[in-house]
Amino acid sequence: MAKDFDSMEDSNRSANPSIHEVSDPARRVFLLGGIGALAVGALSPWLAGRAFAAGRGPLLGFQPVPVSEADLVLVPEGYEAVPIAAWGEPVGVPGNMPAFRWDAGNSAADQAAQMGMHHDGIHYYPIDGSSKRGLLVMNHEYTDDGLLFPDGKSNWTAEKVAKAQTAHGVAVIEVELRDGRWEMVRPSKYARRYTARTPFKVSGPAAGHALLQTEADPDGRTVLGTLNNCGSGMTPWGTYLSAEENWAFYFDGPAERGADQRRWGLLRTGLSRWGEHDPRFDAGRHPNEFHRFGWIVEIDPFDSAAMPVKRTALGRGAKEGAWVATTRDGRAVAYSGEDARFEYIYKFVSRDRIAPGGARANATLLDHGTLYVARFDADGTGRWLPLVQGEGPLTADNGFADQGAVLVRSRQASDLLGATKMDRPEWIAIDQGGRTLYCTLTNNSRRGAPSRPGVDAANPRANNTMGHIIQWTEDKDFDATTFSWRHLLLAGDPDNERPEARGNIRGDSFACPDGLAMDTRGVLWIQTDITSDEKGRGEFQGLGNNQMLACDPATGEVRRFLTGPVGCEITGLTLTPDGSTMFVNIQHPGEPLTPREDNLEVPNLHSNPADPRKYSNWPDFRPDGRPRSATVAIRKLDGGPIGT
Ligand code: FEO
Ligand code: CA
Ligand code: CA
Ligand code: CA
Repeated sequence: MAKDFDSMEDSNRSANPSIHEVSDPARRVFLLGGIGALAVGALSPWLAGRAFAAGRGPLLGFQPVPVSEADLVLVPEGYEAVPIAAWGEPVGVPGNMPAFRWDAGNSAADQAAQMGMHHDGIHYYPIDGSSKRGLLVMNHEYTDDGLLFPDGKSNWTAEKVAKAQTAHGVAVIEVELRDGRWEMVRPSKYARRYTARTPFKVSGPAAGHALLQTEADPDGRTVLGTLNNCGSGMTPWGTYLSAEENWAFYFDGPAERGADQRRWGLLRTGLSRWGEHDPRFDAGRHPNEFHRFGWIVEIDPFDSAAMPVKRTALGRGAKEGAWVATTRDGRAVAYSGEDARFEYIYKFVSRDRIAPGGARANATLLDHGTLYVARFDADGTGRWLPLVQGEGPLTADNGFADQGAVLVRSRQASDLLGATKMDRPEWIAIDQGGRTLYCTLTNNSRRGAPSRPGVDAANPRANNTMGHIIQWTEDKDFDATTFSWRHLLLAGDPDNERPEARGNIRGDSFACPDGLAMDTRGVLWIQTDITSDEKGRGEFQGLGNNQMLACDPATGEVRRFLTGPVGCEITGLTLTPDGSTMFVNIQHPGEPLTPREDNLEVPNLHSNPADPRKYSNWPDFRPDGRPRSATVAIRKLDGGPIGT
């Protein structure tokens, strides 16, 4: 997520008290054994294909890499990491493959056929089961407008807004392993972009709702665009789920914002300039457009003709992603968190079973079911509270006349139910065999601040700048309404003003966990997002650039596997079915230290080449270049599974 958004005020001022008083925060940190069970052979749904290992030897077989401040991607000895598919590369649409212009002079139309900016969640979809040829589907979360245009952030026009919008969204590309190197297949019949201007169908209980009707779409069933797509999940029926995260900050609000608009973080003046040239983003003029973002979207990677869908049954939010587990009787359970301070963790349980036959056979599966929000109690148990109109306080008298209203205003509904306010839930990893979920809580520096919620059992640190990882195991099955929970770890370097982190991580220190996924061997991969403002300061000293680590959840051991270039965050990962290639996204290398920095110090360059602490030119290292988000394809030189 962009630093601009990290610094936003939290908007959960709801009165539901922090009821989970903590007696001893450290009590809930356990180190060994128990429910952090390994997932050997599990049908971990984020990874296509069969499990590639059986039996339980040591999970982590590589030599850890040290922290780094180099403008490079570094991986352990015996591995290589090769960048592909950087921002601006043509995706490979037949007959429409505009080359990247190093002066950033590509038009909006060019950008709509090129890789978007700021890669995030990613999944590999094998073609005919292959680990050498498949599709990569990935999110483009946001833009650094200082990099996107030759004249940076000045002189906004409708064309510049259109280019920023087409640099957002999702890309589908075809890739192939040729002579030991992954390359984009161009042209490809699969290659395409979804942008902030692409028509999406709205489905589920809120489709057509009065709150979603606009002048341009009086039916409330077709939305132009997806926005701020962050984490991603792959469904067991082969589709791609992408979450709209910080869409709220793209809108300009009216002079007097209503309570609902404030609860959803609408600013009087948004962080984007879109509203000046695209009236949809002026919420004073078009208040309902604001309700048409914040949904989980579903895309069929192999069907470029199929209309992408916004699934309202999963609820609206600043969602990080959606990750699907399967109940024993074959229903889908989609987990999500809202990455905002003091927001909530959700799950959706489908009414129907997953049908054989892929995407088309399951075209309405995510439209019918029950949405729940999580409450973590101090005794180590928890409850899923149903977000169902007419149940408990979710009545017309309280502003919830129908299920559509509950879904559009899921935050207010969760406030009334007394859900637990979390420290910015990011990714959720699934141990399908162990019925266990892991969620990164990246940080929350305002917990315990005046007039803000204090610590609770699940979020045990005031001024939680370092973040933590929580885990819970569902009782009986994934559709259970009760669970037990504990902390996997509290992040931070115990030698650096974070003594409470001491002893709970065996191995390498890190801070601000964000991306998270469990592979079929049971390795929990952790990606970090320390914002550039904090890097190297105070308790962040010695933690270096953002990184990816591998954790054995059964032992708590953590080893650093990868360090990224200057100013980047590491986010999104996926493996080929045989485990021999991991694709990881490097987002916003050279992130400016302050939002207004680029174009002030050095025109047309992102940051200051005289200061290596701030300067990135990854991955191209051209003197006239600019840093570009890109995917890295990681392989073990001996061809073995990643992490062994
Ligand atoms: Fe887009 Fe919460 O990170
Ligand atoms: Ca970030
Ligand atoms: Ca983040
Ligand atoms: Ca994230």
